[in-house]
Amino acid sequence: MKGIILAGGAGSRLFPLTLVASKQLQPVYDKPMVYYPLTTLIEGGVREFCLISTPHDLPRFKQLLGDGSAWGLSIDYREQPKPQGIAQAFLIAESFIGNDAVTLILGDNVFYGSDSFHRAFAEFKGGATIFGYHVNDPERYGVVAFDAGGHAISIEEKPSQPKSNYAVPGLYLYDNNVVSITRNLKPSARGELEITDVNVEYMRRGQLRVHRLSRGFAWLDAGTSSSLHEASAYVQTIEKRAGIKIGCPEEAAFRRGFLSLAQLEALTAKMPKCEYHEYLGEVVAEAKRLAS
Ligand code: DAU
Repeated sequence: MKGIILAGGAGSRLFPLTLVASKQLQPVYDKPMVYYPLTTLIEGGVREFCLISTPHDLPRFKQLLGDGSAWGLSIDYREQPKPQGIAQAFLIAESFIGNDAVTLILGDNVFYGSDSFHRAFAEFKGGATIFGYHVNDPERYGVVAFDAGGHAISIEEKPSQPKSNYAVPGLYLYDNNVVSITRNLKPSARGELEITDVNVEYMRRGQLRVHRLSRGFAWLDAGTSSSLHEASAYVQTIEKRAGIKIGCPEEAAFRRGFLSLAQLEALTAKMPKCEYHEYLGEVVAEAKRLAS
């Protein structure tokens, strides 16, 4: 399965932070925001990526992530000249997707939690898989409602009267039909190709699976000053308490087998002496202990 990271948009809600660096390059505690969605997809087993951003910001993402080879990945880049909708990503990345299935993640979404979440990737067979997450303020999101049997019966984008408290996070898995479905979409009243319309079409075809994320799971979006601050505080709390890092692509690539222990060790040795370097040094040392 191929992976798209959508990291464009005007960034207006974070102004003036975004005057120089785009939202997805801002720090969430100790790492650039884009590290988190990238890590989530690596944990799901994705190795081939396309990152989409504005013509202005794309060079900085290339500077940060390169071609991905240092982490055992490949990363292509594509421009989205104007923010004309999340689903437009499938048209921009059409040649990258080719004949494969594809997962799209929003560059400002942070996920942290259990294995059942990652199983959704392994179990994906076709159609569409999206997620549902219980929130306090569903009107800010795409909202999915269920019948008594737990089947999705409606999906609406930012409804003023939400039919449930289940928001649809910015992580979507699709078969290759997503490209033709998107091609047939009409822009919404706000002039965007809506990801919710893609999901509604899969639901109409009876091919939509909604995986409800459990209570212990964390989904944060870091799109406003407050939610950015909250995401940072959350990551700091977990990292300090547990002595692990969230959103560490090098570690995820190693644990997924995309990087060998020797490659991880060499990568770590090149880093400046800092907490991140120390942490990966511990990952290497532990792996060596287990191997001996
Ligand atoms: O965060 C999850 C929500 O994301 C979903 O529940 C909604 O269904 C979905 O529409 C979206 O809602 P947002 O209000 O968060 O969408 P926003 O326009 O803020 O875009 C989300 C991210 O995607 C943001 O980081 C910018 C980027 N983006 C957005 C658009 C419309 C692009 O890169 N290009 C675009 O054209």
